[in-house]
Amino acid sequence: PSGRPLEGLTAIVTSGPTHEPIDPVRYIANRSSGRQGHAIAAALAEAGALVTLVSGPVSLPDPKGVLVVHVETAADMLAAVEAALPADIAVFVAAVADWRVAAESDRKIKKTGDGPPPLALAENPDILATIGHHDQRPGLVVGFAAETDDLLANARKKLANKGADAILANDVSPSGGVMGGAENTIRLVTADGVEDWPKLAKEAAAKRLTAWIAAKLAGRAGT
Ligand code: C5P
Repeated sequence: PSGRPLEGLTAIVTSGPTHEPIDPVRYIANRSSGRQGHAIAAALAEAGALVTLVSGPVSLPDPKGVLVVHVETAADMLAAVEAALPADIAVFVAAVADWRVAAESDRKIKKTGDGPPPLALAENPDILATIGHHDQRPGLVVGFAAETDDLLANARKKLANKGADAILANDVSPSGGVMGGAENTIRLVTADGVEDWPKLAKEAAAKRLTAWIAAKLAGRAGT
């Protein structure tokens, strides 16, 4: 295989957390650094793909050679992903907040002395599931499953329910240091079975995923 096996293909990657506003100064968020998603966007671009990275708020620099769309909320992230369609490859790495505040206050909520305010939540769209079942579904759709329990069972459920071709399952138990850390131990779950990867730097995991994607697409095209 050449150094740029994804030349001529387009890819969408989501990365980072989302921030769901409560009021002008507060938000609900997820504990995600964006390191793995940004590394995947960079690796796909290095392999020749035209990459749109839809990133939630992170403190990382934009990867080189990648079109970066910065968003804050899950709703904005889904809109940016849909705007980037059609694409050949989609990798959903973002730790999207499952819930947003149902009625965001346009003023700072004040302490009243009557106890804390009730915060009604509404469900956010599942971006991976939406795109996995989209009429413009990319040919290859990959998701992540960050779990603390029942890793493989949950990954298999996500593969089926979300319409993904592969789920990269990783254990995010606090003892492992994956969230915000530099390394990841991934189990690649597909309809064909489970491939256990060794513990890798997030950049190396991104390269390995890119090689897997290139092999998969080469196989499909029959080249
Ligand atoms: O259900 P769970 O959040 O564990 O699923 C993880 C996978 O789904 C990841 O690939 C994540 O990026 C994606 N996801 C999403 N939109 C959501 C929730 C999760 O794209 N609202």
